[in-house]
Amino acid sequence: MPTAETAAARPAPLTRDDIPGWFFRLDRAAFGHLLAAQTTAGVAGDILELGSYLGRSAVLLGDHLRPGERLTVCDLFDSEAGDADNAAEMAMSYRKTLTRSAFEANYLAFHTTLPEIVQAPTSVLADGRIPAGSCRFAHIDASHLYEHVAGDIAVARAALAENGVVALDDYRSEHTPGVSAAVWEAVFTGGLRPVLLTPMKFYGTWGDAAAVRQVLLARDWPAEGYTVDDDTIAGGQVLRLNYQVKAPVQQSAPRRLALDLLPPVATRATRRVLRTLRERRAVRPVPTS
Ligand SMILES: C[S@@+](CC[C@H](N)C(=O)[O-])C[C@H]1O[C@@H](n2cnc3c(N)ncnc32)[C@H](O)[C@@H]1O
Repeated sequence: MPTAETAAARPAPLTRDDIPGWFFRLDRAAFGHLLAAQTTAGVAGDILELGSYLGRSAVLLGDHLRPGERLTVCDLFDSEAGDADNAAEMAMSYRKTLTRSAFEANYLAFHTTLPEIVQAPTSVLADGRIPAGSCRFAHIDASHLYEHVAGDIAVARAALAENGVVALDDYRSEHTPGVSAAVWEAVFTGGLRPVLLTPMKFYGTWGDAAAVRQVLLARDWPAEGYTVDDDTIAGGQVLRLNYQVKAPVQQSAPRRLALDLLPPVATRATRRVLRTLRERRAVRPVPTS
């Protein structure tokens, strides 16, 4: 398990991209757009994140706090999980890198004050400590186990105000069927209305889905390099956003050879393209650092 010394030894992030995690350009744009639109419309409320890891998404959520609003993050960080399956998830994906102090250092590299931190299983939030109806946005990105995600969705539902938005990570990844089960259960039996699907995240509301849709449609996504598609699910309209992929340019044999021989620094652009392709396919990558 990493120690506080390991975390302190890590250089402070200079940019948000320096924070390891799984929060990519398209979802950053969607979060930013939805939160900024709420602020512009005079919608005030707290923000809730379940599963913060090293702070990559929490830092962006913190960017959108207005005076009087509060961001609460809940994560196990370096605490023990409450059950064996969750402990196995933690050991496989997070234990080597995650400490609460590393989260705090990353967050404080971009904000002057820490959010409210609940270092515990997200199930503790079922005790009602987040006032009912107090939040305008909730991000669920913690355990991938069905029972946990179903509980997290119930927490978000109680916490969100009437037209609040919930974003759920990993709703369609091959290795997270429990998240898919909980999300679609909430849709078909719990009144959650889908408004937006990206390769990584599901966005929905228990409020006015048409209003959230109008907010999303107000942005020229194609001009920024994204595809926009429209689907109908059980009579409800849902947008899909994804990355535009440029057709690969045919390389001549000498050019291919030159690329092969380039030093590592010159492969950065290639890596950028590969990262975009990977995000588009939503294959869960190693966290970027
Ligand atoms: C996928 S990471 C979060 C990534 C982060 N939102 C980002 O965008 O970089 C999942 C996080 O959930 C936390 N986690 C897993 N199970 C949990 C549980 N039962 N309660 C609270 N946190 C949990 C892990 O410690 C980990 O930090």
